[in-house]
Amino acid sequence: MLYIGIDLGTSAVKLLLMDGKGKVHNTVSKEYPLYFPCKGWSEQKPEDWYTQMMAGMEELVENCKKEDIAGISFGGQMHGLVVLDEHDKVIRPAILWNDGRSDKETDYLNKVIGKERLSQYTGNIAFAGFTAPKILWLKEKEPENFARISKIMLPKDYLAYCLSGVHCTDYSDASGMLLLDVKNKCWSKEMMKICGINENQLPKLYESYDVVGTLKLDVAQNLGLSSNVKVIAGAGDNAAAAVGTGTVGEGMCNISLGTSGTVFISSNTFGVDENNGLHSFAHADGYYHLMGCMLSAASCNKWWMDEILKTKEYAKEQNNIVKLGENKVFYLPYLMGERSPHNDPKARATFTGMTMDTTREEMTQAVLEGVAYGLRDSLEVARSLGIIIQRTKICGGGAKSTLWKKIIANVMNLSVDVIESEEGPGYGGAILAAVGCGEFSSVKEASDKLIKIIDTVEPEQDLVEKYEEGYQKFRKIYPTMKELFRTITE
Ligand code: XUL
Repeated sequence: MLYIGIDLGTSAVKLLLMDGKGKVHNTVSKEYPLYFPCKGWSEQKPEDWYTQMMAGMEELVENCKKEDIAGISFGGQMHGLVVLDEHDKVIRPAILWNDGRSDKETDYLNKVIGKERLSQYTGNIAFAGFTAPKILWLKEKEPENFARISKIMLPKDYLAYCLSGVHCTDYSDASGMLLLDVKNKCWSKEMMKICGINENQLPKLYESYDVVGTLKLDVAQNLGLSSNVKVIAGAGDNAAAAVGTGTVGEGMCNISLGTSGTVFISSNTFGVDENNGLHSFAHADGYYHLMGCMLSAASCNKWWMDEILKTKEYAKEQNNIVKLGENKVFYLPYLMGERSPHNDPKARATFTGMTMDTTREEMTQAVLEGVAYGLRDSLEVARSLGIIIQRTKICGGGAKSTLWKKIIANVMNLSVDVIESEEGPGYGGAILAAVGCGEFSSVKEASDKLIKIIDTVEPEQDLVEKYEEGYQKFRKIYPTMKELFRTITE
């Protein structure tokens, strides 16, 4: 049988067709615009996601035996607020995971409601990107839109709804709303009350590998597929990526170098980071994970290449970088503010340490290193909890760069395992579809059978030591700049 995995990303929707042995038969990617209507805001149109997903799906299945397609599932950008009216029409553009507009509402939740209560209700504190602060923002700033809300959805759940007609979500993605009691896997009554919403406005909860329905007749006909094709709930993109890289079970780690950068640690038991630096979320395998998320990772390099150097030759720009561990230029990667561990929408990106002889290569290198140092910040929080991590998987667009993987291995002092398929969330989505259709008895079984490590980048002692010195310097930059960022952004 064949399974479709849909990775609803921030720059594009990436679709993947996989068979029951894990072989990828086809991939298609379709872009859509990202809107920044005000500084620090970030929006997309759910209708664009749907149009591009359908266009991509047509291409994806063009040359395959359509009757073999058994199931479709998702990995989706997390936390985005999608609101539908009583006719299931989108009320306003979706407010995305990297949108920093709700800093006042975030402060209200953390300071007035209080971190302790939030953590007790949900296992997490408020971050500006999470869904609940955005709901409060909408209530305050767009009361007419708030009053029209019939359903609140997450981005990939909107696609599942369009395909199946079912209002659903899964525990991993719902964890990032700050509305879910993550430990007990149910909506938190207290959080609904705080946000002024009720349970009817929230989608039904499923495990990521649960079947939520089948293709609607008109959608099936448009695609030339059977209306028996199953739609499986899917997961937040990081949990899906973790499935796609085999980060399932106790104490496994995955680093995602996508638009965002994440350090994802899977666990068989529910646990909370007492300092709230890491998110405590449900995993797509039915268990849990801890995760640190930086808001700008591969997007820093994309910005530096596309917008500043005006080049598309990413590999060429990296070819002349040879002096690892000796860069005097440092880069703070906070182009959209920062989530983990600073929780500061007002943080900004900076370069520092340049002299008259600083080269283009050193600046590019600083960008790659700054992102690696930012990921190390999350790893350090995990290490401070006594979690021992010696190796990690890696995925996402940035993971295509050999140099970046080497920098990450040495900055983090981890062995970095490279997987056959770099398409983390899409591959994970297809695996969840296969599990939902009964091809495997569990996510763990599927990931044990399907995921192949093809290479490992080992840390090198001398570079680890040099990067340790670099990291200690990097760590001092944000606290020094923090107050200044406040005056700059006012
Ligand atoms: C995770 C997060 C990002 C988005 C990116 O908490 O906000 O990784 O899911 O798609």
